[in-house]
Formats: sequence, structure tokens, C-alpha cells
Amino acid sequence: MVIQVANYISDIEPYEGGKPISEVARELGIPENKIIKLASNENPIGISQLAKLAINSALKEVERYPDGNGFHLKKIISEKFSITPSQIILGNGSNDILELAARTFVTLKDEIIYSQHAFAVYKLVTKAIGAKGVEVPATKYCHDLNKFSTSITKKTKLIFIANPNNPTGTLIDKKTLKSFLDSIPKHIIVVLDEAYDEYLLDDLKSNSFEWIDTFRNLIVSRSFSKAYGLAGLRIGYGVGSPNLIELMNRVRQPFNVNHLAQEAAIASLNDKDFIEQSRKLNNEGMSQIVQAFKELNIEFIPSYGNFVSFKLQDEKTTMLYYHHLLKNGVIVRPISNYDLPEFLRVSIGLKNENKIFTKYLSNCNI
Ligand SMILES: Cc1ncc(COP(=O)(O)O)c(C=O)c1O
Repeated sequence: MVIQVANYISDIEPYEGGKPISEVARELGIPENKIIKLASNENPIGISQLAKLAINSALKEVERYPDGNGFHLKKIISEKFSITPSQIILGNGSNDILELAARTFVTLKDEIIYSQHAFAVYKLVTKAIGAKGVEVPATKYCHDLNKFSTSITKKTKLIFIANPNNPTGTLIDKKTLKSFLDSIPKHIIVVLDEAYDEYLLDDLKSNSFEWIDTFRNLIVSRSFSKAYGLAGLRIGYGVGSPNLIELMNRVRQPFNVNHLAQEAAIASLNDKDFIEQSRKLNNEGMSQIVQAFKELNIEFIPSYGNFVSFKLQDEKTTMLYYHHLLKNGVIVRPISNYDLPEFLRVSIGLKNENKIFTKYLSNCNI
């Protein structure tokens, strides 16, 4: 029997993540401990010691359902950022927040705007709910908010903005972002995805939580997967006006965030030194890799995240480099599905991992 599904579901191209270490070990016969994964923008130093202790202690309680309202975590987030718990929704990764926003506010008849080269999940969730995606051409690999404005129609219901964006690492400055929010109709929901915010220098941050009271149509999403290192636990959160959050909570699965993740996130938020250490290592690693690109005459897109995308001669050369690195145990990410077929994206690793990456980058005889 053939199962019938809507065309918008069968048209979805599944999300392709970075290759897992175990898969490369299996396929290429390389021992796992000789493989370096620089393909999913994870934190190379791991997680905070405080988070480890919290996870160990929370193991005692896993036979119980987690707190579906995330009371303690929301309290800590609200105190840290001077917002109220009613302005916060927790997600199974920030991916969950992006999806919840679309499922809550958008119907089949509506349009969702996002940028060319923007994070792949925007297109995926748009397709999954059967809405129309409007992809706006990027300018110099960056979201072009002027073009976003001219792409708004009567059917526009939601706009996704990644800041910084993955995989380009580009950043929209806070003034431009704020005037865009000022200029658009207030019935359009704007989801501002700040998964990499913790890596930004303080004066580059938008401090977007302060805009929530002014822009009642704004939802900001943040992640614990990147600078906090909790990618494997799946936890993120959204911040918006209580009215929007309450609506999203109606759609949310009752226990979407597990207990270990909530406890680890609480402990992580209390560990300022860990974030400082992650940011410092990222800045140093970024300089190390950018320096190598310059020496090797390799074009790259200056990045504000914990990754950087670099350009090779053509698509064929790009894949030859990718396989050369892979064969030598270094996993990076091809990004042709982002309309960037001549680029590879590398996540910033530990000093020695970056060194090994640049060594194999330089000795690729194409
Ligand atoms: C821009 C951006 N937003 C959101 C996410 C989702 O992250 P998570 O669901 O792990 O919080 C990612 C992950 O790579 C990302 O790059």
C-alpha cells in the first residue's frame, strides 16, 4: 500500500547534519580517537564542570517526568536578563522554538520570509507546515533587510532572521535590526535567532531582550548547544511578549525539555567563567584559522560565530578538499545545500585540532 502524503511533505529535503565521528570511523576504518569533528559548531572544550555535577545529581530523578513548566530554569533566565518567566518558553533545542513559532502563528495560506544562505531549518519548518517560503537574495552573503521589507506581502505572517547567521557567520548591526523592527507591520511575527549570541563581544550584541516590551511581535531564540556546549542534551529557549509565549505553550509538547537538560542549563548559566573561557578559545582559534586562510590565499567569509566558511576554486575542488580532509580524519561541512557549493564550513576547534585542520588544508594536492 502506498501511503499518501501532502506534496509539501514529500518535497522536503531532509536536514543533513555534520557527519558523526562513529560514522566516519566505520566508513573509513579510522579509530574514533584519531578523528576530529569540526562540522557541527559544537563547543570543543565540552561543558561546564558545574553542569557535569548537576547532571550527575539529576540522574537520581530521571524516573520522574521533568518539570513541564521549567520553573527553576525560567527563574534563573529571568533574573539573569531582567525579564519575567511569563516571557520565556523552553525548547528541545532552539530548533524547537523555531518550529513552535511557525506551527503556532502560520497557516497553509501564509508566507514566511527568510534569507538566501540562512540556517536550513527555516525552509524546513516552512515546508513542514505547508506554508509558502519566500527566500530573499543575500547581499555579500548577509541578510538584506531592505530586500526583506520589499518582499513583504499581505500574506507574510512570519520572518526568520539569524544573527549571526549560520553558515555565513554574518552579523546585522543592532541599529539596522531595530529600524527594521520599527518599520514592519506589527501583525508579522519576527523570530530573531541568536544561537551564537554568547560568542559576540558585548558591544556587538543586540541586547534584543530589551526590545520585547516595545515589539510585541518579536520572539528571540537562544541556544544552550553552542557556547554552553549542551548540544547533546537538546535545550534552548525563546523570549517574547507573554501573549505570544502563552500561545506557543498551547502547541508545545507538555514535557519537551528533559530533566537533565534543565538542570545542566541552570548550572551552566551560573558558570560565567566557562562562557568566558569558551569565547576566548573561540577568538584565538578563529585568528589561528583565519591566519592560515590568509597564508594559503583562501577566500573566507569573516564570521561572528564559532565557525567560518571558506571558498575554493569550484564545486569539484571543494569536494576534493572535503574528501582529502575526511580521509585524514578531519570532518568539516560541505554547504552546497545553502546555495554555497564552492564553500566548506569549519567549526573552530581546540588549538591542536585547528592546527591539524590547517595542515591537511595546506597539503591537499589538487
Ligand atoms: C543559526 C542556528 N539556529 C538554531 C540552531 C539550532 O540549534 P539547537 O537546536 O541545537 O539549539 C542552529 C544549529 O546549528 C543554528 O546554527
